[in-house]
Amino acid sequence: MAGQEPAVGSPAPKQKGKATIDTLKIGCLAMVMKEGRTRRAEVLSIKETKSGRQFYCNFDNFNKRLDEWVPAARIDFEQEVEWPNPELPKEAKKAAAPVAKKTTVTKKSQKRPAATREASIISAESETPKWSDSMESQKATPDVEGEDKTALKLELERDAATPNYEDDDAMDGDETAIKAIKAKKELPDPPQSRAEEIEKLRVGGSMTQNQADISRIRNISKVQFGNYTLYPWYFSPYPESFTQEDLMYICEFCLCYYGDLKAFTRHRHKCAMQHPPGNEIYRDDYVSFFEIDGRRQRTWCRNLCLLSRMFLDHKSTYHDVDPFLFYVMTTRDEKGCHLVGYFSKEKESADGFNVACILTLPQFQRKGYGRLLIQFSYELSKIEGKLGSPEKPLSDLGLLSYRQYWTENLIEILLDFNEREDKVSIEALAAHLAMTPHDVESTLQALQMQIYHKGEHKIVLPMHLIKRHEMLKEKQKTKPKRVIDPARIQWKPPTFTAAQRTWGW
Ligand code: ACO
Ligand code: ZN
Repeated sequence: MAGQEPAVGSPAPKQKGKATIDTLKIGCLAMVMKEGRTRRAEVLSIKETKSGRQFYCNFDNFNKRLDEWVPAARIDFEQEVEWPNPELPKEAKKAAAPVAKKTTVTKKSQKRPAATREASIISAESETPKWSDSMESQKATPDVEGEDKTALKLELERDAATPNYEDDDAMDGDETAIKAIKAKKELPDPPQSRAEEIEKLRVGGSMTQNQADISRIRNISKVQFGNYTLYPWYFSPYPESFTQEDLMYICEFCLCYYGDLKAFTRHRHKCAMQHPPGNEIYRDDYVSFFEIDGRRQRTWCRNLCLLSRMFLDHKSTYHDVDPFLFYVMTTRDEKGCHLVGYFSKEKESADGFNVACILTLPQFQRKGYGRLLIQFSYELSKIEGKLGSPEKPLSDLGLLSYRQYWTENLIEILLDFNEREDKVSIEALAAHLAMTPHDVESTLQALQMQIYHKGEHKIVLPMHLIKRHEMLKEKQKTKPKRVIDPARIQWKPPTFTAAQRTWGW
């Protein structure tokens, strides 16, 4: 993971000299052990813990997510450190600082021709760019001359009813995520493969971190949660005193947190909870879902938000949980229902969002649970008779997961439309999947499936995507993909008075 990240500290020359554990201060660049050798690191913070003084270090060529608290023993005090340059007096600072240029961000305008949004299907073959290419360049409409013969095509006629999707920025796709990270000089250029790009996205900071959060320092180093040890990724607003603990204990059922093993053990003997509070609204042989009202279960939901904040860097609400419902997914064993992941949902979303925050606990990630959470959110939207979309901005991992879910489902349904030789429209696709037409279009665009050719708008389902889908189906014959069975959902859309939807004691 090393090698591509920028060097730490400012490039200005620094005074050097020997430091001791007591004189090493914030802003110093020191040589610190990481992954088997000493590396140059900037000290961003210092704290006292029960096991001694610790220094929060950002390493040369390592990404921010890999910043860590290190004990003095890992710092090589034999080598000189670079001292931070002395602070300039205010006036001098003003003169020295470059004047910040006011930049106007022009939103890319995507005015489209009109559409009746009815489509017919024609067969043709195409050799469209590979997925990794499409992640790299989604700007240009692919040149489809000569592709008309055998690939599947869905033709769209346009009319004046087409919404004007000027604000596409939040949904720009994987390319935007990669670009945003590149802009922060966190990705090599050019990325070699999709796997590498994705790994970079994973270890890269989220594209949606806000500036205030970037400057914050991860405050909890290690968490004991059920049978798992968790290593937090981001700052979470737990009480200050917990930041001094080397290990925090969280009860996996009531989500209460403890800094002290004795107190935690006492709690575990007393705690009678075996599943999340609220109603179990779904159960199959694999998972259960519970619906929890933030207003009724304030403490539990706040604790859940504090826990999830350690892995979700861009959504900061943890205190005001009243306006949200929480859909918590668990797996069951003889000890109880164990938290795997959840999504929150506003009781009433003015923007039509069906998910506010979504999280799979890190020990369960990349096992297909995110797909189940996402599918569940859309199944609820179907029951409500609404089209839903996740709240923006999405994180890097959120974008990858949604893009995957949308792609799989759209291809499945397009193949089905094709078999039945049905007409298709963006609206019909959206209605089938309870997705917004905007998300349908953005997915088709990211996959380079929407083209303008010889004066007509068409959807092209490229051969490589059809083949990939067939391979996936083949694989699933031996290892079936887990899905939510909508028939097992026992749920009616809850109704709330205005007072119940908002904050209030
Ligand atoms: N690298 C590459 N692709 C990934 C990754 C990753 N790390 N994570 C998910 N994907 C893509 C893959 O295509 C994957 O399918 P595959 O495994 O068959 O290739 C697909 O997404 C679904 O993966 P799941 O295993 O079902 O998803 P997971 O359980 O890991 O949960 C989630 C995804 C919830 C986004 C998880 O990564 C997470 O909790 N991240 C931290 C919190 C976060 O960023 N949440 C989203 C914020 S946006 C919002 O809240 C609206
Ligand atoms: Zn408990």
